[in-house]
Amino acid sequence: MGVSAAAFMMLKELDDILLIDIIEGRPQGEALDLGHAAAIFGLSVDIRGSNDYRDMEGSDLVIVTAGFPRKPGMTREQLLEKNASVIKDVAANIKKYAPNAVVILTTNPVDAMTWVMYKELGWPRERVIGFSGVLDAGRLAYYASKKLDMSPASIVPIVLGMHGQAMYPVPRLSTVGGMPLTELLSKEDIEEIVKETVESGARITELRGYSSSFGPGAGLTLMAEAVKRGYNKVFIASVVLKGEYGYTDVVAEVPIVLGSGGMKKVLELPLTPEEKQGLDKSVQAVKSLMDALPPEYR
Ligand code: 2OP
Repeated sequence: MGVSAAAFMMLKELDDILLIDIIEGRPQGEALDLGHAAAIFGLSVDIRGSNDYRDMEGSDLVIVTAGFPRKPGMTREQLLEKNASVIKDVAANIKKYAPNAVVILTTNPVDAMTWVMYKELGWPRERVIGFSGVLDAGRLAYYASKKLDMSPASIVPIVLGMHGQAMYPVPRLSTVGGMPLTELLSKEDIEEIVKETVESGARITELRGYSSSFGPGAGLTLMAEAVKRGYNKVFIASVVLKGEYGYTDVVAEVPIVLGSGGMKKVLELPLTPEEKQGLDKSVQAVKSLMDALPPEYR
């Protein structure tokens, strides 16, 4: 996943790129291969690989894809304990070598891992962002575009709550040219694309034996671009809520404005009572995961 993100970011020439991994030689080899691609494309991007966190010194954006990925048949939630200890270690190094960075992480279960990263860094929530909603929303747009025979670029999809089986797509607020999906698709079609969206991650893992990389790589690139170029662009992401949607100190996928320095604000969508119930159920699933974290995070 990290290498896919690096490849896409390279194409956008966002900035120089450093790949860090604990596996000796792996980041150096990937960086060399990417560097040759950059040369072939004639891109002015320096790409390096390292096994030493010290090389991260002074980075203003750190994208974390470290951790154990899902295997076929596994849920994201089953990675909770193992990946919490990975995030603890990664956070300590980020705090030491990139104290002013914005952190975007993908490590699953990403909502709970965002909370662990937030607690371990002790930074403002605006600089600790979980990558999730861009992928879920992108998948909803993908399936809706197939049903509608329209470009996914014309679809503004909304998925809230948990990045996982309990995610909460909101078809009424997902629009195509300003029209709600609920006006354009039958109830059955909507149920079908919601099911496909929820199950996409597991489907990719089941088909190819390991989890997604290009989808997350694309979404991470757009988020990195917004931070690096100060776009103040709207993304759906997992952030620590402080009263928004009625939740405090819990992480959930919500629409945020993302720019230089990280999150600018959370956008509170006008949910119907039924939609709010759906979001509550999804957020409750995140809370249950957070409650299963080691005591220092509760
Ligand atoms: C996915 O949904 C890896 O959680 C990621 O594909």
